[in-house]
Amino acid sequence: MCGIVGYIGKQKASAIILEGLKRLEYRGYDSAGIAIQQGGRFEVAKKAGRVEGLMKGTPALKITGTTGIGHTRWATHGGVTDANAHPHLSSDGRIALIHNGVIENYAGIKKFLLTKGYTFQSETDTEVLCNLIAYHYQKEPAAQGESRFLEAVRKTLRHVDGTYGIAVMCGDCPAEIVSARKGSPLILGVGDGELMLASDVAAIISRTQNVVYLKDGEVLHMTAQNFSISTLDSEDVSPVVDKITWKIEDSELNGHAHFMEKEIFEQPAALENTMRGRFSEDGSTAQFGGLNISAVDLRQTDRLHFLACGSAWHACLVTEHLIERFARVPVEVDYASEFRYRNMPLGNSTLFFTVSQSGETIDTLAAMREARRKGYKVLAINNVVGSSIAREADGGIYQHVGPEIGVASTKAFTSQLLVGALLALYLGRMRDMNFSDGVEYVQALKGVPDLVRRTLELAPAIKEIAKRYAHYHDFLFLGRLSLFPVALEGALKLKEISYIHAEGYPAAEMKHGPIALISEQCPSVFFVPSGEMFNKVVSSMQEIKARKGKIIAIATAHCELPAGLADEVIRIPECHEAVLPIVATVPVQLLSYYIAVELKRDVDKPRNLAKSVTVE
Ligand code: G6P
Repeated sequence: MCGIVGYIGKQKASAIILEGLKRLEYRGYDSAGIAIQQGGRFEVAKKAGRVEGLMKGTPALKITGTTGIGHTRWATHGGVTDANAHPHLSSDGRIALIHNGVIENYAGIKKFLLTKGYTFQSETDTEVLCNLIAYHYQKEPAAQGESRFLEAVRKTLRHVDGTYGIAVMCGDCPAEIVSARKGSPLILGVGDGELMLASDVAAIISRTQNVVYLKDGEVLHMTAQNFSISTLDSEDVSPVVDKITWKIEDSELNGHAHFMEKEIFEQPAALENTMRGRFSEDGSTAQFGGLNISAVDLRQTDRLHFLACGSAWHACLVTEHLIERFARVPVEVDYASEFRYRNMPLGNSTLFFTVSQSGETIDTLAAMREARRKGYKVLAINNVVGSSIAREADGGIYQHVGPEIGVASTKAFTSQLLVGALLALYLGRMRDMNFSDGVEYVQALKGVPDLVRRTLELAPAIKEIAKRYAHYHDFLFLGRLSLFPVALEGALKLKEISYIHAEGYPAAEMKHGPIALISEQCPSVFFVPSGEMFNKVVSSMQEIKARKGKIIAIATAHCELPAGLADEVIRIPECHEAVLPIVATVPVQLLSYYIAVELKRDVDKPRNLAKSVTVE
């Protein structure tokens, strides 16, 4: 949600910043802009639309200067216009600012600034912040030895409510950037004779692997020679320099048409990475290095509560099913955004989990803080190492699938399902699951990468199906038990990247309302597993067929479907219950992807969406 890049060094800043913005575009892509220091003033180029447009349609790349900031926007306050794009300049022209987040008390501050003669060109809360810094800068001299610019930013931030990740330049300070965060991520890259600032590592890895993760309430002061970190109250903070393990190739297309395609096909390797080192030596259970909770405490936990948003919430629903089934521990799953405002009674020995690919989703972060405030331990399942949620959690599990850049989650989702399956095994083996069932379960998990590889071989056939179905305007996705959340995920994938209306339902629930939608114009995608649910699902399919609805069946190998019942059958391998949701997800990822491609949608950057939602 909004991408921020800053650069101070010896190179031409505009080229480096624009390159960084391209890599961050998945965070927001309504508008883009840069500001470069040029002899005491700012050269600014900004425009509604993509970074590509900024590079082509304006002389952005021609701007010289070695200190600058850049931004990709996901609109919150104010429509998508050139004027609302960042960077914003203060009305006296002294301050340039980019911002990710929402300033909640901007209206009152704006009123005040208007009385002081400041003027506004945009409808944004960001421009208010920018003018308030200019106001403090011109009004108050700094304490001895302090940078007046740095102090003006600190003073301003003490007056604002809301969330921010900001990068600010001052015309009087040619090689300085001040940056600060509260609720929006910021990372400093420490390169060879240069410093880079970004919302996430994707914009930095081509220049350095050494990074400092800024924490909420910290202010970073970058100069051409050095950097320092302090709090809003001017207390010094000792920086910890971490090393990024992701490689530059991880965030490139490597011959694929879209990141979504690349990430779908990366799943066998991604799942291998998620489970590496996570099986016990005797091969009967899972092990985790970072839970920070003793086996005794975990054994005594009598309820688990999962919090997440979007696809991660679907992953939690599958995990709920597996943990209740294999470990017999009751599980509650909440949308993170709802949990905060609900007032549900919580047990004493409840353990919380948050699940978030980015580790930056503000609703999930806020829900986690609420649970911790109530005195509960919260463990985090995240992909992005060093993310806000990972750092604030009491412990957790990293997914290790590398950067996920396509806005629609694919490899991160199946990896979350795998982590859930590992947890169910771990908790199950602490309770009633015996050794041989544990060994069988472990073998099944070890086979997942291969099962997914085999399922990916169906891609050409699924592409053909996609061509035949791309013109429909409505779809139902129907599954039972652990495949019901997969149906929800299938519907979400289709609607987010192809803009086709789709709904996920438990297959049997379909007759309580959604069946009214069924006609030749509304196809249904059914998940059909062999075993106890087979006959029940077939009955639901018959109900659809009787109403002339088209059916795409994603059926496991042993299912003998009545002739003519399904219009299309996608055969997936038979597999253990714990891994079936992972394998069954792959065909719906491919189906949505190919339908979106057929419709010529912008697959990696669907309209109105952003990968990491850092506003409430
Ligand atoms: C956004 C993305 C979804 C994602 C959700 C949660 O809405 O578009 O794909 O599932 O955020 O993201 P997280 O990083 O917390 O998993």
